[in-house]
Amino acid sequence: MTILVTGGAGYIGSHTCVELLNAGYEVVVVDNYYNSVPAVLDRVEQITGKKLKSYDCDIRDREGLDKIFAENKPDAVIHFAGLKAVGESAKLPLLYYENNISGSVTLFEAMEAANCKKIVFSSSATVYGNNPIPYKEDMITGDVSSPYGRTKHFIEKILGDVYAADNSWSVSLLRYFNPIGAHESGLIGEDPNGIPNNLMPYISRVAIGKLEKLTVFGGDYETKDGTCIRDYIHVVDLAKAHLCAVKKILDTTGLEAYNIGNGKGYSVLDIVHAFEKVTGKPLNYVIGARREGDLPAFYADATKANKELGWTAKYDIDKMCEDTWNFQTKNPDGIK
Ligand code: NAD
Ligand code: WQD
Repeated sequence: MTILVTGGAGYIGSHTCVELLNAGYEVVVVDNYYNSVPAVLDRVEQITGKKLKSYDCDIRDREGLDKIFAENKPDAVIHFAGLKAVGESAKLPLLYYENNISGSVTLFEAMEAANCKKIVFSSSATVYGNNPIPYKEDMITGDVSSPYGRTKHFIEKILGDVYAADNSWSVSLLRYFNPIGAHESGLIGEDPNGIPNNLMPYISRVAIGKLEKLTVFGGDYETKDGTCIRDYIHVVDLAKAHLCAVKKILDTTGLEAYNIGNGKGYSVLDIVHAFEKVTGKPLNYVIGARREGDLPAFYADATKANKELGWTAKYDIDKMCEDTWNFQTKNPDGIK
């Protein structure tokens, strides 16, 4: 079986390619390297001892996609390619709509033309917006606070319409919570350009001395220690959820959404302290103002994925911090 992976050189995509290759799938990556480097794919091959095929191609390039589909005849697609910086999306909404939504529509058109109608889509917990916690898949979604989040909501709805029009499609919408951690080899991990927006890469750059201190965004929320609560999930657990979802879509038709989270909430300070335990030294941090748009707390009800995909998250926050630190210390200047 051949799986076409858009955005396969990115953070979650590269970990998923490792799991796919280890499970015996042929992997074809399509990436324009906007937020990644081709060397990541060499490392995926190094970890697995297996080869993959890759194309430097933008998902908005219909002709390029048509050629790739014709050459490789993939059985299914895992669609990671997209821009993901929440703050940037508020400043550059059209870039996000163009890249994420137009790109996805072009990809779905190419899939339909090639009669490849099986897809796992990278959605996000952000689609739940202000719902009560824990989030469940049958809640009404779409009350989102950023253009980025809206792209995820719209793409979910577009796939819903595609499936409604043609029931031979098989669609799995995976709503990720907060992926952190790295492959335990330390060869691949999260490697953002510039100053990180997300908590874990920020913490690990403070710990290695590249950034001076972490500002904890808000210490006066109504939570156990005043800081926000999130559902952090090890990226390898997340990658494995894709394997389960691929197996399911290859065997069935339909459209389902699944929460991919641990089902547990950790505060920002829980993560800081777990990281300090791993490095063995205190992390320089201050409690600052709240960040606009942050919700006080959210985490998943992951029962549906547990039951229907046979998937459960295995790793705890200590392992997430350990693997992040291992990747950071082995790649102090990122992957070149
Ligand atoms: P990432 O930026 O590391 O990976 C995305 C990859 O897509 C990159 O390699 C990038 O170069 C590529 N890409 C972007 N636009 C492209 C285009 N037009 N054509 C071809 N390739 C393109 O991000 P990630 O953290 O691995 O996230 C993967 C997916 O999961 C994204 O869709 C993201 O929105 C979604 N997601 C991420 C998180 C998270 O916290 N990391 C949470 C929920 C959902
Ligand atoms: C986590 C917690 C911050 C940085 C985002 C997207 C979401 C999904 C995952 C894609 C929050 C706090 C952070 C810092 C801090 N991505 N924090 N200081 O905001 O939960 O989710 O990434 O779909 O859609 O919105 O993740 O890592 O930015 O923040 O105190 O320097 O860490 O306030 O409570 P978030 P995050």
